[in-house]
Amino acid sequence: MKKTIRNDKTSKIKAPLVEALKKYYETPMHQFHIPGHTRGGAALPEFRQLIGKKALAVDTTDEFDNLGTLHPATGPVKEAQELAAQAFGAKRTFFLLNGSTAGNLAFGMGLTKKGQKIVTNRNCHRSILTGLIISGAEPLWLTPHRLDEWGLWGQVSPESVEEILKSHDDIGLVWLTNPTYEGVMSDVKSISAICKKYKVPLIVDEAHACLWNFHDSLPTPAMQLGADAVLHSLHKTGGSMSQSSMLHIAHDSLISGDAVEKALKLLHTTSPSMLLLASLDAARANLQSPRGAKQIRRAVSNAKFLRREIDKMEKIHHLQPDFGFKTDVTKIFIKVDGLSGVRLESILEIEFGIEVESASDAGLLLLSNPGNTRKDFEYLAECLHKIDKTQYTDICYLEHKKHMPMLTPIIRMSPRDAYFSPKETIPKTQAVGRISAEVIAECPPGIAILLPGELITEKHLPYLTDYECIEVLS
Ligand SMILES: Cc1ncc(COP(=O)(O)O)c(C=O)c1O
Repeated sequence: MKKTIRNDKTSKIKAPLVEALKKYYETPMHQFHIPGHTRGGAALPEFRQLIGKKALAVDTTDEFDNLGTLHPATGPVKEAQELAAQAFGAKRTFFLLNGSTAGNLAFGMGLTKKGQKIVTNRNCHRSILTGLIISGAEPLWLTPHRLDEWGLWGQVSPESVEEILKSHDDIGLVWLTNPTYEGVMSDVKSISAICKKYKVPLIVDEAHACLWNFHDSLPTPAMQLGADAVLHSLHKTGGSMSQSSMLHIAHDSLISGDAVEKALKLLHTTSPSMLLLASLDAARANLQSPRGAKQIRRAVSNAKFLRREIDKMEKIHHLQPDFGFKTDVTKIFIKVDGLSGVRLESILEIEFGIEVESASDAGLLLLSNPGNTRKDFEYLAECLHKIDKTQYTDICYLEHKKHMPMLTPIIRMSPRDAYFSPKETIPKTQAVGRISAEVIAECPPGIAILLPGELITEKHLPYLTDYECIEVLS
């Protein structure tokens, strides 16, 4: 199946919510409503100076004329959501505040129920666990491949999905994360075909892949491969403001968009930020435009450039597609012989003024984003070449803390039952053998070290160096 690229080369790209907000700015009213800083008048002057008067003047919510409302979607907000649905090839799109986290909560609350079995991968984001705590659904865990050398989770095999679906006839949902935070991809096409065979809906948490619709050398997005619903953190790589995301319901979806909408209405703030919503409208319009296409092309080409440079280095390596899995080229996970990723992160920051996406014991993650220039990448490559040639052995160390929880959980109770059971807080040293009552997950990547209902074992301890105490069932 040929992938559909969703750039719009012909017509003028519309951004109705951006236009409405501009009008709101240009036609100020005598304002006797929230927010109480009243177009920045009561803001701390230093803050106003920092972010600019204009930003405060358009900081408004959805109660006012001509901007539309989020719940129910009306006016320019509705139009902007409809344009986003077209752009991403969805039947319906919902704008999310509180990030893709809100989307996973709404999936849990709207689509699953107490005691119902759902299938998800062990390395899912903690917001999926929160969704399960809300609803009381019970996870059946898919254990992805382990890329031990890289300290990372790899892909979920279609066979493991089929095995679970074959052996249970009461599964409500498969809820898959693809790609991983570091860009490792599963075979969503095969997994989707298996879900269809067993008539089980497939949701793909595609938080890290909102660019895939817009460039032919990026992977095919899950909705084009048969997923019933998808999440995109537009704020991560798509150019919208922090916290703003999108939830898409596919054409011919097996899941109910109305149920998701109802849950979102309960979960969302009743004072949605128009600035964040307009930033989603703007990001979608930009990604679709020839300018956006050029920026994404540049992100892909910068990533390939850096990977070629790393190939010339002796001690620095990058995670590349290998037998059995593929990666998103724009997410570049690197490691250096003899240096921990955390140590490398501090060298880059302190010696070279470079900030990376995240670091672990094993390596670190660099993102090639649409906003980065070739110059950024030339500088990064130059610094990595210098590091490659430097002997850091005198200060080389590996931390004893582990970052990426790669554990197979021993489950004693559902996340909801454990979370709401009587509990006590005890020193970590006494926790082995007890059952966790909380989600412990470091962000990024937000993958749980401990799930509520999981038996705590010795294997957890190296991941818990930052914790003195843990909540356990009493
Ligand atoms: C796979 C995955 N899903 C969901 C989320 C939550 O996204 P947000 O930060 O937009 O709430 C994250 C965040 O890192 C994530 O990695």
